[in-house]
Amino acid sequence: MSKQIQIAIDGPAGAGKSTIAKIVAENLGFTYIDTGAMYRAVTYKALKENIELNDAKSLENMLSNTKIDLKPSENGQLVFLDGEDVSQQIRSNEVTANVSQVSAHPNIREILVKKQQELASNGGIVMDGRDIATHVLKEAELKIFMSASVEERAKRRFIDNEKRGIPSDMETLKEEISLRDKLDSEREASPLIQAEDAIYLDTTELSIEEAANAILKLAQEKME
Ligand code: DC
Repeated sequence: MSKQIQIAIDGPAGAGKSTIAKIVAENLGFTYIDTGAMYRAVTYKALKENIELNDAKSLENMLSNTKIDLKPSENGQLVFLDGEDVSQQIRSNEVTANVSQVSAHPNIREILVKKQQELASNGGIVMDGRDIATHVLKEAELKIFMSASVEERAKRRFIDNEKRGIPSDMETLKEEISLRDKLDSEREASPLIQAEDAIYLDTTELSIEEAANAILKLAQEKME
C-alpha cells in the first residue's frame, strides 16, 4: 500500500480547488475535505438565527452548540449541520457574501482548525481551503497554491451557478471575487498567502484534467 500522505491545496475563490481536489482524492483513494464548507455552514446558521456576524462571542456560543459533519457521497462531499443536509443552502449568494466576515474571527477559526486537524490526523487526505498549508496542516507532504485570473474565476463561478440554478452576472461575480480575495488575503487571522514550501499552480490555461494530473504526478513522487 502506498503512503497515506496529506495534500494541502490553498488558493482564492474559484481557482478550481474543490473540483480538482475531489478528482485527486478519488484517484488516490483519499478522503477529500472542503474546509470552506465548514465556514459556510457556520455562516448559514448564524444568518438563520439572526446572530450579529461581527459578534465573535455570540458566534462562538452558537458554534459550541453546533454539529458539523462532512460525508462523502457520489455527488461529492455532503455537509450536515445539526443533522440536516445543508449542502445546497451553504452555496447561496447570501452565504457567499457573508462568509468572509465570519471566517475572519480568530476564535471561530481556532475551533474549526482543530476539527480539520482531527479529520486529517490519519493521512490519506486532500484538504482544500485558504490556510491549510500555512496553519492547519503545516507538515503536509504536498502543498499546492492554486490560482487563476479573476476573469477566468468569475467565468467558472458563473457556469457553476448556472448548473445549480443560482442566477448571477459576470460583472457582479468579478467584483465579488475581487472583494473576497481582498478580505481573505488582508485579514489578520490566517490570511490567504502561499506557504514558502508550496508549489504554485496557475490553472487559468489548464483544463480540470490537466490540473488534476499535475497534482497527481507530484503526489506520486511524494508517495514513492
Ligand atoms: O472555498 P469557499 O469559497 O467555499 O470558502 C468560503 C470562505 O471561507 C472564503 O471566503 C474564505 C473562508 N475560508 C477560510 O477562511 N479558510 C479556509 N480554510 C477555507 C475557507
